[in-house]
Amino acid sequence: MSNSWYNIKIDTSNPFNANWKFPDVPVTGNGIWCIPAQEVFSQEWLSYVSSLGLDLVQTMIFYRGPYRSTRFAHIDLYYGDTNTVNNFAINWVIDGIGSEMVWYKMPLKKSKVQWANADIPYINWDRRELEMIDRCAIKDKMTLVNVGIPHSVNMAEQGRWCISVRTGEENNFPWDQIVEKMRERNLLIER
Ligand SMILES: [Fe+2]
Repeated sequence: MSNSWYNIKIDTSNPFNANWKFPDVPVTGNGIWCIPAQEVFSQEWLSYVSSLGLDLVQTMIFYRGPYRSTRFAHIDLYYGDTNTVNNFAINWVIDGIGSEMVWYKMPLKKSKVQWANADIPYINWDRRELEMIDRCAIKDKMTLVNVGIPHSVNMAEQGRWCISVRTGEENNFPWDQIVEKMRERNLLIER
């Protein structure tokens, strides 16, 4: 089984568009937002990332309040295209001390498409039926993550913002291919 995450060498020290603000959400709440990358990030940062071979289209922003873990793990589908699994994302986390992203082996059992708010499709399984295969305390450094197999977040005492950037469907490379591409471009930090 291949690894489900890798740190990558892309700088996130000043990525945001000056006009962009994090959405309002209560500290104890939950939220998912899907926003075009052009709105969230500065043109300068998007050009820098593009020069490294990644054309970012969408941004998913997740907020989860203290201890708000769920019983479920899910795979990501494409916004507006429930037939296509989104294979990878690049995530980083603000706050969320003690939280961990965890991955599970893809189960044989089928499950139905569901919708999060903001019309975001996903497929869920009960975590108790799954076998955990990897985990990562994602920090404020860009981390390539496999979102095409079941994954979830274990929350601790601090709320967690996760910035998750996505390419378009035409660049939705299978996990092993995106890992290899990042490795070839010398962007991957081996584990
Ligand atoms: Fe996800």
